[in-house]
Amino acid sequence: MKGIVFTEFLEFVEQQYSPDVVDNIIDASTLSTDGAYTSVGTYNYEELLQLVSALSDITQTSSSDLICAFGQQLFKCLAGNYPQFIEGVDSTFDFLRSIHGHIHVEVHKLYPDAELPKFEYSFPQQDQIVMHYHSIRPLADLAEGLIRGSIEHFGEKVTVKREGDSGNNTSARFILTRES
Ligand code: HEM
Repeated sequence: MKGIVFTEFLEFVEQQYSPDVVDNIIDASTLSTDGAYTSVGTYNYEELLQLVSALSDITQTSSSDLICAFGQQLFKCLAGNYPQFIEGVDSTFDFLRSIHGHIHVEVHKLYPDAELPKFEYSFPQQDQIVMHYHSIRPLADLAEGLIRGSIEHFGEKVTVKREGDSGNNTSARFILTRES
């Protein structure tokens, strides 16, 4: 997993909690780097899950809720770092349907070692988009947070329903409905 996800996660913990909590979760985890991540490095995603689990113990908040909240913040960081994927796009649905076939494809060209999920789409109704997440990494909660971050960014009224979870977070279906 690219270091930007780790550096942004530690930033999220510092902002939402405190620098001491950052130190505590690093101390409670077995990390290859002692927590010294660089944004262009690549690290095992399991280190992120260890950090989240330590944060969950300290804050008594579920790992799912923490990862989802982090995903929303990560979206702001990605949107700021890669404005080329957002400029000229004016709706949540147009943006989200470009993730798999365009944005993540370009990300993969930039970083051939990036580990990206798969999304399959269907459009059951005009005001609906269904995104089916699959990954070998158990990060469906991160996908949910990134989807919620996208909706917030475009300021539209879109509801998110999640179903069909595989039980281990490697697959889930998100049904997004635009309210008129
Ligand atoms: C400007 C928009 C976006 C950019 C530039 C971007 C880029 C990236 C990058 C750099 C990674 C890390 C790859 C790695 O760790 O090796 C990543 C992972 C990921 N992205 Fe995106 N992304 C964007 C939007 C989204 C959105 C809106 C979603 C949700 C629909 C999404 C879903 C994910 C997920 C779930 C992962 C974690 C990897 C996994 O689950 O296997 N991304 N993305």
